[in-house]
Amino acid sequence: MSTPIVEQSREGQVLVLTIHNPPVNAFSVGVPEGLHAGLDVAEKDDAVKAVVIMGGGRTFIAGADIKTFDLPRAEAPDLRGFISRLDAFPKPTVAAIHGTALGGGFEVALACNYRVAVPDAKVGLPEVKLGVLPGAGGTQRLPRLVGAEKALDMMLSGNPVKAPAAQKLGLIDEIVDGDLKAGAVKFAAAHADARPLPRVSERKVEGASPELLMAARQNIKKTHRGQLSPTYIIDLVEIASSKAFADGWAAEARLFMMAKDSPQSRGLRHIFFAERESGKVRGVTKDTPTSNIEKVGVIGAGTMGGGIAMNFLNVGIPVTIVETAQEALDRGVATIRKNYENTAKKGRMTAEDVEKRMALLTPSLEMQSLADADLIIEAVFENMDVKKEIFTRLDGLAKAGAILASNTSTLDVNEIAAVTGRPESVIGLHFFSPANVMKLLEIVRADKTSPETLATSLQVAKKIGKVGVVVGVCEGFVGNRMVHKYGEEARQLVEAGAKPEDVDAAMNALGLPMGPFQMTDMAGLDIGHAIRVHQAKVRGLPEPDGWLDRIVKTGRKGQKTGGGIYDYGEDRRPQPNAEMQKIIEDYRAEKGITPRSLSADEITKRLAYTLVNEGAQILDEGIAQRSGDIDTIYIYGYGFPAYLGGPMQYASEQGLGNVVADLESYGLTPAPLLKRLAAEGKTFAQWDKEQAGT
Ligand code: CAA
Repeated sequence: MSTPIVEQSREGQVLVLTIHNPPVNAFSVGVPEGLHAGLDVAEKDDAVKAVVIMGGGRTFIAGADIKTFDLPRAEAPDLRGFISRLDAFPKPTVAAIHGTALGGGFEVALACNYRVAVPDAKVGLPEVKLGVLPGAGGTQRLPRLVGAEKALDMMLSGNPVKAPAAQKLGLIDEIVDGDLKAGAVKFAAAHADARPLPRVSERKVEGASPELLMAARQNIKKTHRGQLSPTYIIDLVEIASSKAFADGWAAEARLFMMAKDSPQSRGLRHIFFAERESGKVRGVTKDTPTSNIEKVGVIGAGTMGGGIAMNFLNVGIPVTIVETAQEALDRGVATIRKNYENTAKKGRMTAEDVEKRMALLTPSLEMQSLADADLIIEAVFENMDVKKEIFTRLDGLAKAGAILASNTSTLDVNEIAAVTGRPESVIGLHFFSPANVMKLLEIVRADKTSPETLATSLQVAKKIGKVGVVVGVCEGFVGNRMVHKYGEEARQLVEAGAKPEDVDAAMNALGLPMGPFQMTDMAGLDIGHAIRVHQAKVRGLPEPDGWLDRIVKTGRKGQKTGGGIYDYGEDRRPQPNAEMQKIIEDYRAEKGITPRSLSADEITKRLAYTLVNEGAQILDEGIAQRSGDIDTIYIYGYGFPAYLGGPMQYASEQGLGNVVADLESYGLTPAPLLKRLAAEGKTFAQWDKEQAGT
């Protein structure tokens, strides 16, 4: 007989209810029914003196089932109904926590009379990360238990607290070392006769001063710019401190529904699943063999190479870093050390940690020293001939089965692989700068890359804390290919009459921390110029001479030369520069362009939809497997706001029909896939599902 979703077992006078809903015991349909059935038994049977609720498998309840958020209310699992009953239950209830008690899961625990946990358990209310708020009493119970300040901190950050710290805060009554079930049963039996039963809902909130609430409201303007649910959370803590529990409970339900039904929450939930989905790659199964990566080689000790090396040192994997000249090697190693020392100065690492990591780094001038590496990542400058030479040498010296990766951001990985006798082991691993910080890793699958190489690379990404997204070979892969079109369109907008600061302001208002020209100034104007020169050469076109190319030629290359499109004062904020504006005006005059005024709405749509249009083309070509992958790339690599769900999800929210109509009204040509989906009234997420056959 199969195990029921909620298993009942009697341990003396204690009834233990164990939830079996793998993988994370989310509060899905079937869970409340099983728990109610358990409480029915406990209520009727006089021999049962207390109840323990716990999770089977790897965790306690990790939250409401996010997949059921869009179900009609009657079909959705009734978490609030169960929690109401639990709170009023006449016999002692104990939550026995291991793994993670998050969101609705922790709310179940908060509605129990007692909570016990194993030492490595974590508890928290992460709903803000999904654009919602704790909707089953969490906003009312947490401040009653830990005070307003700590509750705000936990609910606004969404970060979990480890059991020992949670015990200090009063969230956990006892830490159980050893067998959790036995410890929880013992605890429950010891409290079987405790009366009156402690109920969090009956406590008062401490510390909710007007100053605290005002400071929290100010602070979220910086930490959660433009987001709804943090505001609601603060409102609900205020209600918890000033009104009866029942009033707060009702207000919470109302605000939860408003947050849940907002595009922001849909966007954040979309990206939660898209991020996890990106690890599921066509041609790679659970059975695909992977190899162990125990030694890594990095070629190039510049900014990129150094940053890449740090990822591996951070997780205890030894790295040999190779350069051609002693000076460059010394400089690269010194930069890595300095980065670690700066982290130590900020108190986020000890001096001992710094030395431990540096001890794992072997500097070398000999490529031959990479002979025993399991993974070699080339991170030299973008020049095909140089890369081909390196890969030819690597083919001759790397051990059999080693993965040979290029960190190229634009070049053809097939061409690089072709110079080796083992193209199946060649892959692109495109890190984003700063490589030790940015979470995105574009994993470039070349035509002959083997499933094993791919599966191992995905595993490597996870190991070093990156979100790995598999993409196909084309110029710029996914992220940069889209950003090039976006940059082109931004330059066109300025040509047509917009000021660079208007373009950036419109994108800032959409939620991007940097607009296209702020980004250009940061990356360096010369980089984009060099790419345009290269592309023109490849296509047999004359040397590019747009307004931005003319700015580069004045010697202003962006922030690194003290200014580019903008000037930068002490505060490093971009300030428009009259001479640069003059270059733009002269350019327009020379080309006979009469400048017109462009609205923020037109700027935003033309830029965002240019990304979407190129994204649709990329999907059609199979360069990205799903639109969710593109969204993940844009959020983790390009600062697109997560609450918009990424460019493709944003477009779906606007309605693809509207996107097509807008593009056409601006004289832009919608990609065939975009037109098709718009005509069929579909979203990109629906297309993803169709492609996956689900
Ligand atoms: N609902 C539905 N599915 C969930 C889920 C949830 N709450 N949490 C995780 N999953 C799924 C994931 O999608 C993933 O599915 P696939 O294997 O099909 O990709 C699987 O469970 C395992 O998840 P992870 O890969 O993330 O596993 P992990 O071990 O790295 O992390 C975790 C586990 C810490 C629980 C992490 O999954 C997590 O943070 N989950 C979200 C927790 C959360 O936000 N809870 C609050 C929900 S909202 C809520 O509860 C509202 C309310 O107040 C009423």
